[in-house]
Amino acid sequence: MLTRMHELKRVLVVGAGTMGSQIALQTALSGRYEVTIVDTAPGQLERARAQNQKLVDRSVEKGRLTKEKAEQALGRITDSDNLASSAPNADLVIEAVIEDFDAKKSVFESLGRHATNDAILASNSSTIVISRLAGLTGRPERCCNMHFFHPVTVMQLCEIARGPQTDDDTVETAMEFVRGIDRTPVLLQKEIWGFIVNRILFAASEEAMRLLEGGYATAEDIDTAVQKGLNWPMGPFHLLDFSGLDIFYGALNDRRQQGEGGEVPDVLRELVEAKHLGRKTGKGFFDYTTA
Ligand SMILES: NC(=O)c1ccc[n+]([C@@H]2O[C@H](COP(=O)([O-])OP(=O)(O)OC[C@H]3O[C@@H](n4cnc5c(N)ncnc54)[C@H](O)[C@@H]3O)[C@@H](O)[C@H]2O)c1
Repeated sequence: MLTRMHELKRVLVVGAGTMGSQIALQTALSGRYEVTIVDTAPGQLERARAQNQKLVDRSVEKGRLTKEKAEQALGRITDSDNLASSAPNADLVIEAVIEDFDAKKSVFESLGRHATNDAILASNSSTIVISRLAGLTGRPERCCNMHFFHPVTVMQLCEIARGPQTDDDTVETAMEFVRGIDRTPVLLQKEIWGFIVNRILFAASEEAMRLLEGGYATAEDIDTAVQKGLNWPMGPFHLLDFSGLDIFYGALNDRRQQGEGGEVPDVLRELVEAKHLGRKTGKGFFDYTTA
């Protein structure tokens, strides 16, 4: 079996949004890779660059990074609005476009046409397992999920999930890459909806909602119990409000369409229908308008 780790030098990140911009930055900060970041929305590459500049400036101010290293890292990132011309130069592609199957499908079809046969093609999707995309590339053995967490420059974990056709070299190289950019990889040996973290988070959140709906305890007390009894940094209801109830609602519906899980809890559906989506709208399980 070929070992390609030493060959992995050029990383292409597709999508310069919340996740893609920071995946590119974290990769560049390692000093090991040249990074290209592609986005097609007008102004997005400039916004991503400005956000990354702000992030490194703050790290320099706090003494976590030298000015020289910060400048070198940003200098390693090249912007592009053209996937077709950038893909042939990449050893590893990390797709981080919007969570929409058709958007990801068009990226993977393009990668099938323009990336080299050896390049590893990874998706940062939170819910779409790689087997739904890998076949579009003509080289499913080189494809895997590479699921980072937000914010990437703070959150250590990255879940690598192998599809039914992903080969060992792809898995090992992906794991080694994640270690090389100072994140911690875990391997999902068989793909499954939600990977590891979201399955556990969703199970806990659904149980919390069952307890609330059954009148066993208030949302406040359930959160306090989880926070103080399990040592979570915040309870499930505060976490759901923080992430956005619409995101969780959408993910539960998607899971149902994939043939897993039960109905969306009424308490969640009612909040979403009333447009109480958590912190971003001022109200969710808790009220933030007076805070
Ligand atoms: N935000 C999170 O907390 C989080 C955490 C883990 C994983 N994810 C996953 O990461 C992915 C990206 O999420 P995000 O929050 O960064 O989204 P986002 O909306 O902030 O960014 C997506 C970017 O992709 C760009 N884009 C769309 N189609 C494109 C194309 N064809 N070519 C190039 N660029 C294109 C958009 O212009 C946008 O800038 C999603 O799959 C999401 O599920 C998100």
